[in-house]
Amino acid sequence: MRVLVTGGAGYIGSHTTLALLEQGHEVLVVDDLSNSSPESLRRVGELAGREPGFVEANVRDEQALDAAFASFRPEAVIHFAGWKAVGESTQIPLTYYRENLGSTFTLLEAMGRHDCHTIVFSSSATVYGELSEPPFREDAPTGATNPYGRTKHMVEQVLADVSASDPELRVGVLRYFNPIGAHASGRIGEDPKGIPNNLLPFVAQVATGRREKLMVFGDDYPTPDGTGTRDYIHVVDLAAGHLAALDYLGSHDGHHVWNLGTGRPASVLEIVKAYQEASGVAIPYEVVARRPGDVASSFADPSLAEQELGWRAERSIADACADTFRWQSENPNGFAGA
Ligand code: NAD
Ligand code: WQD
Repeated sequence: MRVLVTGGAGYIGSHTTLALLEQGHEVLVVDDLSNSSPESLRRVGELAGREPGFVEANVRDEQALDAAFASFRPEAVIHFAGWKAVGESTQIPLTYYRENLGSTFTLLEAMGRHDCHTIVFSSSATVYGELSEPPFREDAPTGATNPYGRTKHMVEQVLADVSASDPELRVGVLRYFNPIGAHASGRIGEDPKGIPNNLLPFVAQVATGRREKLMVFGDDYPTPDGTGTRDYIHVVDLAAGHLAALDYLGSHDGHHVWNLGTGRPASVLEIVKAYQEASGVAIPYEVVARRPGDVASSFADPSLAEQELGWRAERSIADACADTFRWQSENPNGFAGA
C-alpha cells in the first residue's frame, strides 16, 4: 500500500515508517523538521534497506501537499505531525491550534481532492483527563485540560464529523498512552530538544550524566508507592498498532477509536528502578512537589484493540529501558552527533 506519513521524521513516525517499509509498503513522509532531523529517515532507510520518500514541508502548505498527493497517490494517510509539549502549549496556544488543527484541515481537504479515503490519527490518552477512573475504555468521557490536549480532543471531533458526512471516509483514531523505548538496533529513538518534558528521556539523560538528578513530581498520590502511575508502551509495539489499524481499515468502513496501551500501570519509582537495572547506573532522584495538571494514574483498557485489530503490546518496560539505554549511549547527542 502507498502510505503518506505526516510527521514521519519524528519519534513515533520514524519507528512506524520503518515498520511500514519492513512490511513492504511504500512510504512518503511529509515533515517540516520543526522537531526532528532528516538523519532519522536516513537511518530508517539504512535499517529497512530502502529509503522512504521525503518532502520537507509543513502539512498546512496546501500546494506542497497537493504536489505530494498528485505524484505519490497515497491510498492511506497516517497523521503524526503535530506539536506535543503540554507546558509549551499553555505559553503559545495559538501555535498549537494553528499547527495541530490547521494541518488536519489541510490534510483532510487534500485527501478529498485526491481520492484518498483512509486516515489514521495520533491522538492521546490525555483526552481522558480526570473525567473517569482508569482503566480507560474508548467510550469513557473525554475532554481536555490544556491547549495541547484540546487540539487532540478537537481533531477527534473534527474527524468524527467529517466521517459522518462522508460514508467513504475510513478513520482510525489511536489514543496512545505513554510511548517509551527505541528501536532495538540503537539507530533510531527519541531525540528531545532541550530539557526533556517526559519521564523516560529525562531519566536516560540522568544516567548518561547530562542531567544531575531526576525530580520526582510528588510521592503522595493514592498509588502503591505514592508516585504517579502511567501505562508505558514500547514505541515498536505502538508502531505495530498503526499497521494493524491500517489493515483493519482496509476492510471496514466508518470511524473507529482504539487505545494503544499495555493495560499495566507502572510508577515513577518502578521506571527509575527498571532503568537502573537496564543501564547498571544509579539514578539519583529527589522528590519534589506535584507537577500542576498531573493525574495520579492513567492506564488503558486495551481489550478493544486486541479484539478488533488482533494487536497487543508485546514488549516490557525492561525491554524499553534496555533499548533506550542502547540508543542513548550510542547517540549521546541524539541525531545531532551524526
Ligand atoms: P515528534 O515531535 O517526535 O514528531 C512529530 C513530527 O511532526 C516531527 O518530526 C515534527 O517536525 C513534525 N511536525 C510537527 N508539526 C508539523 C507540521 N505542521 N507539518 C509538518 N510536520 C510537522 O512527536 P512524537 O512523539 O513522534 O508524536 C507524534 C504524534 O503523536 C503527535 O501528534 C503527538 O501529539 C502524538 N502523541 C505523542 C505522544 C508522546 O508521548 N510522544 C503521546 C500521545 C500522542
Ligand atoms: C510521566 C510520570 C510525572 C517527568 C505526557 C502528556 C501526554 C502524552 C504523554 C502526548 C508522571 C512523572 C515526569 C519528571 C516525574 N503526550 N515525572 N519527573 O504527563 O503522563 O503525559 O506525555 O500526548 O499528553 O501529558 O508523561 O512522561 O511527562 O510523566 O516525576 O521529570 O512521570 O509526574 O507521573 P505524562 P510524563
